Amino acid sequence: MEIPIRQVNKEDVWELRHKVMWADQPFDYIKLKDDDLGVHYGLFKGFTLISVISIFITNGECQFRKFATLQQEQGKGYGSMLLDYVIKEVQNNGVKKIWCNARKNKVNFYKKFGLEETNTSFIKDGKDYVIMRNIYSR
Ligand SMILES: CC(C)(COP(=O)(O)OP(=O)(O)OC[C@H]1O[C@@H](n2cnc3c(N)ncnc32)[C@H](O)[C@@H]1OP(=O)(O)O)[C@@H](O)C(=O)NCCC(=O)NCCS
Repeated sequence: MEIPIRQVNKEDVWELRHKVMWADQPFDYIKLKDDDLGVHYGLFKGFTLISVISIFITNGECQFRKFATLQQEQGKGYGSMLLDYVIKEVQNNGVKKIWCNARKNKVNFYKKFGLEETNTSFIKDGKDYVIMRNIYSR
């Protein structure tokens, strides 16, 4: 079965971001001031949006942010499918450098997509992050 992945509007990703990533925060917390500059992608199961990611291209580098899969659909490969699709799409468009602020518990997951840990890590709102990037970004 083909899994449809397509660009969606920022409003479409907000609900999933909030539910999955920061349900204990007010809804507006998950909105980014840069959301209008981003490209937002969603993966649908039937008519339901189950995984989202947003990309922001600045100075020839792509940062992906707010990657989230609905809890009950996690661990089934949908997030991997979406991330893989988006990385290929960005690179096919000539942007080779990819990076993200990774939650530390996701480091091994991102390594499967060719990202490496940098020396830069930080804590934000009680969560540990490390910047990860691909080989083109060295
Ligand atoms: C990060 C996130 C988006 C990944 O989405 P996902 O849809 O669960 O991703 P996948 O199912 O492709 O992969 C998740 C794990 O399941 C495993 N998996 C994938 N398909 C599988 C299958 N069919 N059977 C068993 N395991 C599978 C993957 O190998 C991966 O394992 P790992 O975490 O040990 O590396 C999701 O966990 C999430 O929303 N987390 C909360 C928010 C968050 O932390 N976002 C990232 C911030 S950096």
